[in-house]
Amino acid sequence: MKLHINRKHEIGKRNPMIYGHFIEHFHRQIYGGIYDPGNPLSDETDLRMDVLEAMQRIKVPVLRWPGGCFVSSYHWKDAVGKNRKPLFDKAWRVEDPNTFGTDEYIEMCKKIGCEPYICTNAGTGTPEEMSDWVEYCNLETEGQYAKQRIFNGYNAPHRVKYWSIGNENYGFWEIGAKSSDEWGRLVRESAKMIKHVDSETELTAAALTDLEWNINLLKNSGQFLDWISIHEYWDGIQQNNDYADYEAVMAYTNLTEHSIQKVRGLLMAMGLDKKIKIAFDEWNLRGWYHPNVHTIRQGIMKEEYLYPRDENDDNTKYTMADAVFTACFLNALNRNCDIVGMANFAPIVNTRGCIYTYENGIVLRSTYHVFDLYVNYMGDIVLNAWCEDVEKMNVYNKAGEREETDVLDIAATAFSNREGFAIAVVNKSDSEEKRLGLELEASGDVQFHYISGDSTEAYNDVGHDAVTLEHTKLGPYKPGMSVALKPHMAGVIRIGC
Ligand code: AHR
Repeated sequence: MKLHINRKHEIGKRNPMIYGHFIEHFHRQIYGGIYDPGNPLSDETDLRMDVLEAMQRIKVPVLRWPGGCFVSSYHWKDAVGKNRKPLFDKAWRVEDPNTFGTDEYIEMCKKIGCEPYICTNAGTGTPEEMSDWVEYCNLETEGQYAKQRIFNGYNAPHRVKYWSIGNENYGFWEIGAKSSDEWGRLVRESAKMIKHVDSETELTAAALTDLEWNINLLKNSGQFLDWISIHEYWDGIQQNNDYADYEAVMAYTNLTEHSIQKVRGLLMAMGLDKKIKIAFDEWNLRGWYHPNVHTIRQGIMKEEYLYPRDENDDNTKYTMADAVFTACFLNALNRNCDIVGMANFAPIVNTRGCIYTYENGIVLRSTYHVFDLYVNYMGDIVLNAWCEDVEKMNVYNKAGEREETDVLDIAATAFSNREGFAIAVVNKSDSEEKRLGLELEASGDVQFHYISGDSTEAYNDVGHDAVTLEHTKLGPYKPGMSVALKPHMAGVIRIGC
């Protein structure tokens, strides 16, 4: 297999926000996760310093909050200022003390160094409640909510640019789910009010890869939207510990580009592809284990949430297979960077996230290393690469059917501020090493950064680091040279940079 790259063939400049993340008031993501009062590892604002540092290392560009399903019965006004009112969270059926609210979230984003991205309540909430939230965050002094923010100790506006109208409001599981007609009208009114408060905001709204839903949404409110929000959990909602095996996971890698093309096609057909970008604002290979609410007290009773662990906390389930899938997904986003401008891995901490917290430290799961690899070693200009003689592999998908997938998954990049190439390469084979020949005009040293794990089942846990990011030097670039790719491996080859 031989890779050809021409530096002049650019697809576009990749938005750093495709490496974004999501955090929800769910499970141990906020309480007992990043926000852990009383823990010696927490700072003066009760944020876990080890988690912040891990987030800084992968330069989290944007962090979506507070839900997820949680948001669809959340009232932000109860979680600002001195008199917080506890909330019975109807999505996850637990009490949320509301001690972590908008101001704490904004302060957290500042510490991480990321853009805030707020998802509003379009379940039981109203356009007015949404736009009041924008007033609280973004207006200098006008109106009661900006004044309330100042009273609460925040003189300068929080300046939140990215806002989502709703979360999965198409789903029967969502509190206050809507029909597609209702949704089109609600988004239109909400977007209008939000933009009247702050015309600089960028708005997205809950959507699907489904035609009827999206046509209604875009016909009604396309003129107000900057983004369209798509969620994808390829391995579905798990009820029976029934995670897909490695082959089925590789079959899922075929689906990402289909989803993108479906939404791209519709945006093009409606003449909106230059105006509206896709935000995969929740995505992960794994769906979620339905948590036993009695073991998840959201940090209110520490002993209970630590023991017993629920299924989401089982680190053995997040393996090298997750890393390989995650790399393929990020490759697809890179290759479609002209239409995909944001993505939020769901979630960043605990549940099925890439950082797992326990009382005395954190575990960086396999997927964390993929973000480290892409954020810190890939370029920002995506090139149109061409691979000669790509081998195919046969896999059984989750439905037990045979299907083909390319054995290698590649995204090639260059840099807007310096010379060189950075090429992401995934070898999906579970057992065979592959060689990739390189045909490009380049010079300088070749370095290979890759994620290594002995088997497709390798995972990280407390005191057990089986999936790591490795670095090797391969000497000076020679035209036609080839690089050996171990089985089930994701890496970035850097040449002359
Ligand atoms: O992460 C759990 C839930 O998964 C989120 O709340 C929801 O948006 C998605 O369905």
